[in-house]
Amino acid sequence: MEETAQLKIGDKVYELPIIEGTENEKAIDISALRGQSGLITIDPGYKNTGSTKSAITFLDGEKGILRYRGYSIEELAEKSTFLEVSHLLIYGELPNAETLNSFRKDITQHTLIHEDIKNILEGFPSNSHPMGVLSSLVSSLTAFYPESLDPNRSVAEVDLSIKRLLAKLPTMAAWAYKNEIGHPANYPDNRLDYCSNFLKMMFAVPSADYEVDPVVANALDKLLILHADHEQNCSTSTVRIVGSSHSSLYASVAAGIGALWGPLHGGANQAVIEMLQNIKKDGGDVKKYMAKAKDKNDPFRLMGFGHRVYKNFDPRATIIKKAADDVLAQLGVNDPILEIAKGLEEIALNDPYFIERKLYPNVDFYSGIIYRAIGIPTSMFTVMFTIGRLPGWIAQWKEMRENKEPIGRPRQVYTGMNLRPFVALDKR
Ligand code: SDX
Repeated sequence: MEETAQLKIGDKVYELPIIEGTENEKAIDISALRGQSGLITIDPGYKNTGSTKSAITFLDGEKGILRYRGYSIEELAEKSTFLEVSHLLIYGELPNAETLNSFRKDITQHTLIHEDIKNILEGFPSNSHPMGVLSSLVSSLTAFYPESLDPNRSVAEVDLSIKRLLAKLPTMAAWAYKNEIGHPANYPDNRLDYCSNFLKMMFAVPSADYEVDPVVANALDKLLILHADHEQNCSTSTVRIVGSSHSSLYASVAAGIGALWGPLHGGANQAVIEMLQNIKKDGGDVKKYMAKAKDKNDPFRLMGFGHRVYKNFDPRATIIKKAADDVLAQLGVNDPILEIAKGLEEIALNDPYFIERKLYPNVDFYSGIIYRAIGIPTSMFTVMFTIGRLPGWIAQWKEMRENKEPIGRPRQVYTGMNLRPFVALDKR
């Protein structure tokens, strides 16, 4: 017997079906509500509204659980690699050795980007934020691969677009960084693994040899795994809704980059470090900044704290916090802002304002500490988030297309002027 919810409006009662997911999450299906009652629901920020059913990532915000295709983030971060996790998210299964090798080869052969992209880069002033450059470069792939414009082409052709994007994003990201600092771009070195190739493109200079430090490459690989997907967050919802109009994968991901850039979302990792540096510059008085974070009249927020879903510890923050200690110790780096971060966390976790609002460190609170330790500049932090989140965006876009979901078009409640006659200019 199907479970239903009853909604009483006036003297009428409407029965709405309740659906249940594989982790016993329940939802009221309101897809027939307007047809039956003439009413819609409204939910600013979609805090209580599901946009889709998905088999990719499971979050439990109260228990601090995060799983990709059923595998726990703790196990994947510890035992897997970013390319394996990318395959898992996009195709649904961990690859065996043969499949992984073929996947890796497919991606490696597409790491080069068209030389004309240098002309596009030259159009950007050298201090351009890399996120704006990256969004443009991803969008430019529609020009170099016009066949990608049609998302309804064969599975093989869509798969080629997917692998091209996974392969080229690190190259474009590194070129955006080199453009920002006015250095010559490095070409990919396909002898290297995914993360080592990126690091070499980022940091190699013509005047010296560059050897990738395996500690740095491993730390980066773990960080990318931790950022790879996160169900229907702001940027993923953006990728899905742009893709729902049958816009191409590249155009959908370019839009997702724009959404991730915001300081309330992926841009928070850059904002956290800038906040910690400001606190250090201001004498390290964490109590003063905690008071500012709680002051409703002060726009200051404790960046890297709070989350729409996690009302307990973000499991990624737990892993990253430990990794920060390990990586800095392995690299012999002593970063005073790590101590400031830990001091803020200690105070926040014992402060009624944060406890009542269930505000815990999120994925962005400690990630920047590791990025700094491995030499990634602050302006590139959200680009790193983009590289990590790409397989998740691709998986979610692909699922939406395979499920033939309708174009996303929310309703609204109009609160403007009622009908009024036009007034001629000389009468206004
Ligand atoms: C990411 O959705 C995802 O999954 C995102 C992400 C992913 O992997 O894709 O996890 C990545 O975006 C992580 C979040 C990074 N953003 C930040 O660290 C920015 C700081 N955090 C906040 O701006 C905020 O916590 C959000 C945006 C993350 C969540 O905002 P919500 O769910 O809309 O909550 P809210 O703004 O309504 O806050 C509820 C209360 C408010 O106080 P009251 O009005 O109830 O008195 O908590 C307060 C807020 O003022 N609050 C904070 C705070 N975050 C929320 N107060 C001080 N400092 C903060 N950081």
